[in-house]
Amino acid sequence: MFLFCLIFSALSEAEIIMATEENGDSSRCFLVGKKTDIIEAKRINLTVGDRDIIVIHHQGTFYSMDQHCYHAGGPLLNGDIEEFNSMLCIVCPKHKYKMSLEEGEGIYKASNPKEPEQPARWYSKGIKQRVHKVTEVDGNIFVTLSDCPGWIESDYYQGEKGREELKKALAEKSNC
Ligand code: FES
Repeated sequence: MFLFCLIFSALSEAEIIMATEENGDSSRCFLVGKKTDIIEAKRINLTVGDRDIIVIHHQGTFYSMDQHCYHAGGPLLNGDIEEFNSMLCIVCPKHKYKMSLEEGEGIYKASNPKEPEQPARWYSKGIKQRVHKVTEVDGNIFVTLSDCPGWIESDYYQGEKGREELKKALAEKSNC
């Protein structure tokens, strides 16, 4: 928080206005760090507003999405990034579910039992992980939290019940 305040106070008023103009809703737009620092770190996780998110820099592009995997809250910060079906995806380290970095679309590969002679192909599960917009203004990276209406499965781990579940799982793990 202290670091965040330091970075924020170092920004000029014009930079902040530019960022909020580019991102629309200023109440959901957050400075998350310096571009150079995030590129060096490759990935960061942090809480902004009411959400736990990750910000990723991969092959010259920044992405942001909810931090806890929609399936069972796995830590996406540690997920591998791979291309499947021409889409860059993050692979959850817990059960290997795949979701696209751009859209948060869950995908899986399967073969059709009615057509056993056909090779397995990729299917979409729809949008499962909430993704957020990333903007760069004068070397600073801003995330605008998604206000896409309706329930997206990763919302569960951003709520009280889901967070409680994650906390309990963590406590059980540390007792082992
Ligand atoms: S928790 Fe991510 S795949 Fe199960």
